[in-house]
Amino acid sequence: MKIQIETMGCQMNRLDSELIEGELRKCGHEIVASQQDAEAVIYNTCSVRQHAENKVLSRLGADSQRKAEGKSLIVAVIGCMAQNYGDELRRKYPHVDIVCAPGRIGELPQMLLDARAGVTTVALDPTRRENITNPPGDSHISKMELGREVTPGRAQAFVRVAKGCNFFCSYCIVPFVRGPERSRRPEDIVTEVRRLVDGGRSEITLLGQTVNSYRYSEGGRTTSFAELLAKISPIEGLRRLRFVTSHPLDFGNDVLEAMRDLPNVCPYIHCPAQSGSDAMLKKMNRKYTRVQYDDLLERARQIVPDVVIAGDFIVGFPGETEEDHQASAELIRKAGYKNSFVFKYSPRPGTLAQKRYPDDVPDSVKRRRNNELLGVQEHVGLEHHRGYIGKSVEVLVEGPSPHASRPDARARLEGEVQLLGRTRGDHIVVFEGPLALAQQYAQVRIENATSLTLFATLLRQV
Ligand code: SAH
Ligand code: SF4
Ligand code: F3S
Repeated sequence: MKIQIETMGCQMNRLDSELIEGELRKCGHEIVASQQDAEAVIYNTCSVRQHAENKVLSRLGADSQRKAEGKSLIVAVIGCMAQNYGDELRRKYPHVDIVCAPGRIGELPQMLLDARAGVTTVALDPTRRENITNPPGDSHISKMELGREVTPGRAQAFVRVAKGCNFFCSYCIVPFVRGPERSRRPEDIVTEVRRLVDGGRSEITLLGQTVNSYRYSEGGRTTSFAELLAKISPIEGLRRLRFVTSHPLDFGNDVLEAMRDLPNVCPYIHCPAQSGSDAMLKKMNRKYTRVQYDDLLERARQIVPDVVIAGDFIVGFPGETEEDHQASAELIRKAGYKNSFVFKYSPRPGTLAQKRYPDDVPDSVKRRRNNELLGVQEHVGLEHHRGYIGKSVEVLVEGPSPHASRPDARARLEGEVQLLGRTRGDHIVVFEGPLALAQQYAQVRIENATSLTLFATLLRQV
């Protein structure tokens, strides 16, 4: 079958899509880039904000129109929205053939065959209320992870260290759609990383909703996240080891020391604050105070002097006053983030915040606060990036820069294009160089900076 996969949401979904792609290829299917040529389309969906859901709902509306007009197309909705809506999705969009929760993706090849034979499937994970810590789909996904195909020609790969989340921040849908936190066996993670590195992947990003909460116990022995890093780091050929996303509460000095002492662990921390105000943090059930977050920033800078930090903020959470908002702006200034992701609060049905607190900050205010935080971040980001001017840094080249202006005549003659790479600190670097550098490492000298990008000249391949 010719199948198109469209991925929304976070890195977890990107990883799941990659696993599914490999699995479907193994079964003899072909993955196509456009829906025009596809016999089946798989939407790997996200429920974190209403905006993310709307995107998929409008696609489903369009597909249902086309199917009504006689086009034959198998439609599968998988991922977080599938778990969030379950049966309801099929009631609203009867043309949907498959609704498959994140934990059941191992069964997708069979579901697609069934759909071709006219049989629809709704496969969900246990709900949080059922209190099952060992969902049935997990072992299937483990097999997919350990047996995943390693396609050549790419340097980067994601590896999951834990599924789910135990935090229950009051605004967040993730714990409901991804289930309780389950850490994987360290030996399995090491095996998977080794296979990927042997297959040519040299930058590995470990994934978890709160990756630093990783903790695995077996036979009276517990492995912490810092210990896991120490087990993975020595793998020969592994040039860069990263991890996202971190929760401020579990960020002990042991992880920072691992970052300092293990040469391939990159000095980059994505550690969302969500707000700079204690009143908001408490209502958000983030489980830390502003003082604790400040302390983490201080420890990080002290133990890892070249650490690069990125953050997330939510504006317009219920009851957020101008003063609370200013506290977030002040935190951005103080933290010196490389970049911040800023989101307007979006009530998620079923979460504590949605049930308990009216969404009382008008959208116009959310929008203004969003822009204000981004404005502050732009200043902070510019200052941060300017600090690199004149320095020589290593980049992993992703490929041609998607925003490249047309190369000038000289560059064309010399076969050079505008390339985009990432530093160990996750900065975006744009420079001119040969296309053959794609997916390779290079040393570059930083010449200029904006609030989000470094501009460099190529020194040499490394
Ligand atoms: N597991 C990650 C984040 C997952 S969601 C962590 O805990 O850090 C990614 C980001 O989306 C969050 O950091 C938060 O800033 C934002 N977010 C989550 N729920 C939201 C909601 N209901 N409205 C607006 N933003 C939200
Ligand atoms: Fe959501 Fe909070 Fe868990 Fe992150 S830590 S996934 S924001 S509940
Ligand atoms: Fe979205 Fe699910 Fe990730 S809700 S952010 S795709 S875990």
